Amino acid sequence: MSQLDFIRALPKAELHVHIEGTFEPELMFAIAQRNQIEIPYKSVEEVKQAYNFHNLQSFLDIYYAGANVLIHEQDFYDLAWAYFEKCAQDKVVHTEMFFDPQTHTDRGIEFATVINGLQRACDVAKVKLGITSHLIMCFLRHLSEEAAFKTLEQALPYKEQIIGVGLDSSELGYPPSKFERVFAQAREEGFLIVAHAGEEGPAEYVWEALDLLKVNRIDHGVRSEEDPKLMARLVAEKMPLTVCPLSNLKLCVVDDMAKHNIRRLLQQGVHVTVNSDDPSYFGGYMNDNFIAITEALDLTTDELKQLAINSFEASFISREDKEKWISKIQNLVV
Ligand code: ADE
Ligand code: ZN
Repeated sequence: MSQLDFIRALPKAELHVHIEGTFEPELMFAIAQRNQIEIPYKSVEEVKQAYNFHNLQSFLDIYYAGANVLIHEQDFYDLAWAYFEKCAQDKVVHTEMFFDPQTHTDRGIEFATVINGLQRACDVAKVKLGITSHLIMCFLRHLSEEAAFKTLEQALPYKEQIIGVGLDSSELGYPPSKFERVFAQAREEGFLIVAHAGEEGPAEYVWEALDLLKVNRIDHGVRSEEDPKLMARLVAEKMPLTVCPLSNLKLCVVDDMAKHNIRRLLQQGVHVTVNSDDPSYFGGYMNDNFIAITEALDLTTDELKQLAINSFEASFISREDKEKWISKIQNLVV
């Protein structure tokens, strides 16, 4: 089997994908049209040309603008369903999707509209595609602590449908410490915890996510390598990092995939996983990310297997389901 076929055959879990970041320009145009919302682009090609980012903020500005066309429950369903079809193509058998409630509630869209649309897509994906999923809601860190508390309160009636709480948006200048209290309450309510840290921000933000937010996983975390003490802690605690290679390249966190540190992190014993982040904006879904690092870093089939095993180990599925998928990966013939 070629490396490419091996990647395609590997069952995978995706643990870091923003559902708003899977919004393909074709669907964005279709939904804008049916909702009679103007978007500042004349064509799909023009949208794609705008996807030229020099840092996280330059991407976020366009990403939030794109989400403005999502109004009705059906829009959220269509968005998530299109992503599930990509999962099926890439053998992503389980996904833990982020959504940003504040991006929608701040525009007057009900929390219920968002979650009901996403949940219905999750239910249909289970039945029609055999793909399992969890939802994780993220607080926007450029907004206030008070706004995050309000969002947490709005989520409480949907506690059974939301497995965890995360932290995303502009990282620099918005350290995890700003949200220590709201995450403490989220933990008390029984939510699992994740946070973006160490993407553009320093290793110090990863320490804060661990010590103050008490995360179960770190999203990105690639800058942890700058701090040997932090690296030792991540290894000792088997703390997962949900790494997003194409995202790091497109947002200039690395300037060349050949310089990406995911292989070094893996070799040093860090529990790294591969993810797509905002695949519509960064030029690829799960398998594109696997292919890009395999080509640039010359990954072996054993390393590919380890990355896929890590994705299930780090997921929020049951121990029994983890064992089921891990044994399938171990028994996959090359
Ligand atoms: N929101 C969507 N994608 C993000 C990323 N890569 N970092 C922070 N916030 C995000
Ligand atoms: Zn992200």
